[in-house]
Amino acid sequence: MEPDDHVCLCHRVSLRKLRAYLKREQPPVASKLSECLNAGTGCQWCVPYLESLFEQWQDGKIGQVSMTPEQYAQRRTAYREDKKRRALEEHTAKQAQANKQQSD
Ligand code: FES
Repeated sequence: MEPDDHVCLCHRVSLRKLRAYLKREQPPVASKLSECLNAGTGCQWCVPYLESLFEQWQDGKIGQVSMTPEQYAQRRTAYREDKKRRALEEHTAKQAQANKQQSD
């Protein structure tokens, strides 16, 4: 990824902004990155990448995300579709259980 590519696609937070936030704020924990324009507070796809950027920063490195923006976006789409599918399955299972309890 290049500096102006978005790491948090939900809130359009770029790699550059996250690097600047880490340098300026020196957060004690990775979760504080959410204070950088709400990064990671939407679908949560980017949270592992935010944690990785935090760890790289702690190690004195310039944070990188090693994939193209297109690959990143495609994986996020798959993540969100999988999340929706699992939520639907969970809802269906709960509904089936409720229906069974009513018929018992
Ligand atoms: S991509 Fe960051 S919360 Fe969705």
